[in-house]
Amino acid sequence: MCGWREWIWCIPATVAVVLVANSGAAQERPYAGIGTPLSAAEIAAIDRDVRFDGDGLPTGSGTVAEGEELYAERCAACHGEFAEGSGRTPALLGGEGTLATDAPARTIGSFWPYAPTVFDYIRRAMPEGHAFSLTSGEIFALTAFLLHINGIVEDDFSASAESLKGVRMPNRDGFVMPPHPTAQGTRCMQNCRKEGPRIAAEAPVTMEGIMTGDREEQP
Ligand code: HEC
Repeated sequence: MCGWREWIWCIPATVAVVLVANSGAAQERPYAGIGTPLSAAEIAAIDRDVRFDGDGLPTGSGTVAEGEELYAERCAACHGEFAEGSGRTPALLGGEGTLATDAPARTIGSFWPYAPTVFDYIRRAMPEGHAFSLTSGEIFALTAFLLHINGIVEDDFSASAESLKGVRMPNRDGFVMPPHPTAQGTRCMQNCRKEGPRIAAEAPVTMEGIMTGDREEQP
C-alpha cells in the first residue's frame, strides 16, 4: 500500500509503528541498568561500614608507636601536635568530666561510647580531604594511638578487630534512650482497634516553636 503516490501517508504510519515498538520496550526496562545484580567486587568496594560492636572490622593490626608516627605526618597539621585541636578542627583528647557541665567537651575520650567507631570514622573521613588514602593497618595504628593518648589503653597496645572489641570506652554507659512522650504502650497483636491512627501531637509550624521545641498537643 505504500506506493509512490501514497508516500505521504506511509511516513506517519512508519513513525507510529516505531513509537509503539519503543513504548513496549520502555515498559519492560524503564531504567537502564536498574535490576542488574552487583558483582562481589562492586559490593566489597562500598560495603565498608564497621559496626559499633566491631562487626565489619577488617583483618590487620597497628600499634600505638606506629600510630604516633602517622599522626605526626598525616593529622597533626590540623588537629595540633598534641591533638588539642585548632580553629574548627576538634580536639581528639580531653574533656573528661565535662559532659554534664555548661561547657561539655565531646572528644573520643570523654564522649565516644565505642572504640570500633574510631576506626570507622577515620576510614570514612580522615585525613580530611584525603579519605580512603590510609590502609587498614594504618587506621588500626591511628586508632591505637588516639585511644592511648586518651588514657584508655597502654602504650604497648596493638589495635585489631579482636582487641578493639574488648576496649571499654569511659562513656560507654552515658547514652540512654529518653522515654518517648507519645509512642509508649504495648503493641496490639489481636482484637485491635479498627479506626485509623489518632494524631496525638503535631510538629510546630512556627520557627519560634521549632526553636523552643514546643509541640501542638491535640485534644
Ligand atoms: C585538613 C585538616 C584535617 C586533617 C589533615 C585531619 N583531620 Fe581529622 N578532622 C578535621 C575536621 C575539620 C574535623 C571535624 C569534621 C566534622 O565535624 O565534620 C575532623 C574530625 C576528626 C575526628 C572526629 C573527632 C570528634 O570527636 O568528633 C577524628 C577522630 C579525626 N578527625 C581523626 C583524624 C586523624 C586520625 C587524622 C590523620 C590521619 C586526621 N583527623 C586528619 C580536619 C582534619
